[in-house]
Amino acid sequence: MDETIETYEEAETRAAGVRLALSLPEYALVAFSGELGSGKTAFIRGMCEAFSCPEQVSSPTFTLINEYSGTRTVLHCDLYRLSGTEDMHAIGLSDVFAREAVILIEWAERALPLLPFPRYEVAAWHGEEDAQRRYRIRYVKDPHDSILFEPVEPFARPL
Ligand SMILES: Nc1ncnc2c1ncn2[C@@H]1O[C@H](COP(=O)(O)OP(=O)(O)O)[C@@H](O)[C@H]1O
Ligand SMILES: [Mg+2]
Repeated sequence: MDETIETYEEAETRAAGVRLALSLPEYALVAFSGELGSGKTAFIRGMCEAFSCPEQVSSPTFTLINEYSGTRTVLHCDLYRLSGTEDMHAIGLSDVFAREAVILIEWAERALPLLPFPRYEVAAWHGEEDAQRRYRIRYVKDPHDSILFEPVEPFARPL
């Protein structure tokens, strides 16, 4: 799978999330990359809708990992505030990967060396118009196929 879609409102992005969710194997991992506001959480909201998760879905920026349960168990991680493998171990990312659950990771590029294969990747961009977004969705079996962005260190400052 390697497809690019364009959406023009949030509902369309959620619908794209529903479609991807319904095509996933049981314990899929989906790694999301894309700047703030590009609609990663909106996309994930659609996926959780497809799995009938009743919980409110929001970026787990402070909790780091949210767990929802519907027709599947869904783990939703946001690595925005983290950098480096020490942080990733500290939040128990390897335990997350070992779970029998659908795993959805925002800012996944921050954990790039630790992300298991195979996985799905979703790269998200803002389009030219205000509510335009673009998503490339790819099934990735090895590092050469990855479409995740280069990690940007969140708290860098000039020397
Ligand atoms: N086509 C679109 N798809 C998704 N979100 C959109 C779209 N157009 C506008 N938006 C708005 O952009 C924001 C996306 O936020 P969010 O999903 O939290 O992004 P991220 O998780 O990538 O930071 C929301 O406020 C949403 O209403
Ligand atoms: Mg988000």
